[in-house]
Amino acid sequence: MKLDIVILAAGQGTRMKSSLPKVLHPVAGRPMLAHVIATARALDPVAIHVVVGHGADEVRTALAGEDLNWVVQAQQLGTGDAVLQALPDIAGDSVVLVLYGDVPLIETATLRALVAQADQAPALLTAEVGDPQGYGRIIRAADGSVVAVVEEKDANPEQRALREVNSGVLAAPASLLARYLPAVGNANSQGEYYLPDVLGLAVSDGLAVAAQLALSEIEILGVNDRVQLAAVEREYQLRRAHAFMREGVAIADPRRFDLRGTLHCGRDVSIDVNVVLEGEVSLGDGVSIGPNCVLRDVAIGAGSTVHAMSHLEGAVLAENTSVGPFARLRPGTRMAAGARIGNFVETKNADIGVASKVNHLTYIGDCAMGEGVNIGAGTITCNYDGVNKHRTTIGDGVFVGSNSTLVAPVEIADGGFVAAGSTLTMAVGENELAVARGRQRNIQGWQRPNSSNKEGH
Ligand code: UD1
Ligand code: CA
Repeated sequence: MKLDIVILAAGQGTRMKSSLPKVLHPVAGRPMLAHVIATARALDPVAIHVVVGHGADEVRTALAGEDLNWVVQAQQLGTGDAVLQALPDIAGDSVVLVLYGDVPLIETATLRALVAQADQAPALLTAEVGDPQGYGRIIRAADGSVVAVVEEKDANPEQRALREVNSGVLAAPASLLARYLPAVGNANSQGEYYLPDVLGLAVSDGLAVAAQLALSEIEILGVNDRVQLAAVEREYQLRRAHAFMREGVAIADPRRFDLRGTLHCGRDVSIDVNVVLEGEVSLGDGVSIGPNCVLRDVAIGAGSTVHAMSHLEGAVLAENTSVGPFARLRPGTRMAAGARIGNFVETKNADIGVASKVNHLTYIGDCAMGEGVNIGAGTITCNYDGVNKHRTTIGDGVFVGSNSTLVAPVEIADGGFVAAGSTLTMAVGENELAVARGRQRNIQGWQRPNSSNKEGH
C-alpha cells in the first residue's frame, strides 16, 4: 500500500498568544512539528506534505533540511480545505494519513494500525477522554458504527456529553478524499470546511468507517494553549524518564527530568532532581549528577561526579573527575582522569591534566595544564588584553598559590611554584619559585589614628 502523509500546520494558534507559529513551539527542545514529522517518517511514506499558512516562511525555515513537500493554504478555511490543498500532489491510488502539527505525542504503532484499516474506506482515530471539551464528538449509530463527527461548537447538549472524541487523525484512500472533500460544505457555526465531514459522506455512500481507539488520552492531546503545551511536555519527559529508568538509570524524580536532546547512559548512572540535559549528552558508567545542574553537549567519563548547581557546556570529562558544586564549565573545557574542579570556578577552552585540582574561586581560560597541578583559590588566568586572547601554559606538578594572577601569554614549566598573591608576567622555569608581589614591611611604633589627633573636618 502506498502511503502519503499530510500534516496540517497552517492554523494561527491564537490561544498560544505568541508571535511564534504554534507548531514551532518546542516540546523537549524541538518544534512540535518536528516530532510529528519524525513519527510520520517512521511509517515510510511516499511523501510527507506539510500544509502551512500562518507563519509559513518561519515554519519552512525552522524545518529546512527536512525532505518535505510544502503546501501553502492561503486562507485557513478549515481542516477539510487544508487537506484539499495537498491532494493535487498525491497519487490517486495512495492512502492518505492526516496528522496535526499540534498533536505531537501520537505514536507510530497507533498510526500503523489505523492505516492498515484504511485501504477501502476512511478510518478514524478516536479516544475516550475524561474531559471532552474542545474536541469533536464521535456519533455512533445504534449498531455501534461511526456515522459522523460533530464539532463542539455545533453539538447539542446530548452530543456534548459524549466522551469519545475525534483525535483529528484520519486515514483514507486518496481517491475517496478527492471525491468527498470538494463536496464538503461550510454551513456550520464556524463557517469552516471540516475534514471529518467526509465521514458522513462516506457513510451515506454505504461505506463502513473504521474507528480505532487510541492507546491513551495523552497520545492524542492537542496543543491549543500553553497549559496544554506544558502538559504535553511533562508527559513526554515522564515517558523518556521511565524509559531510561527501565534501562537502569537512577532518576531521582521522573517528574523532574528534562531532556532536550539526546542522552546516552552507561550502567548505574544517577541523575538527581531538576537536571536539564541539552544537545548531545553522554554519561559513562557510575556517573552521578547532582541536583539543579545544566549539561549541554557534554561527555562525562565513568565514575565522575557533578555536584549540585553546576553548569557544563561543550565539555569533555574523562573518568573519575569531580565538578562543583557551583562550577561553570564553558565550551572547550577538557578534564583528564581524576581532575577536580571545585566551587565557584569558571573554565573555558582549558585542558585540566590528570589529577590536577582547581578547587575554589578561580577562572581558567585558554589554558593548557599538565598533570598533578594544584591551583590555589582565587587564581585568575588573564587571557584577554581587550583585543586578543592569549594562552597560559602550566606544566606537570606546578603549584600556583592562592590569589595569583597569571597574565597571558605566560608559561610555568614543570615543577614551577608560584607564591601566593603573585602577578605573573614572565615565564617561570622548571622547578623555579616565582614571587611576584610587593614585599611585606612591618612598621614599628606605628600610631593608630584616634579621635584626639583627628583634623577638624
Ligand atoms: C480539530 C477537529 C476536531 C478534533 C480536534 C482534535 C475539525 C473540524 N475538527 O478541531 O474534531 O477533535 O481537531 O485536536 O477538523 N489547520 C489548517 N488549516 C485550517 C485549519 C486548521 O492547517 O484551515 C490545522 C491547524 O494548524 C491544526 C489542525 O489543523 O494543526 C487542527 O486545527 P484546529 O483549528 O486546532 O482544530 P480543532 O478546533 O482543534
Ligand atoms: Ca487543535
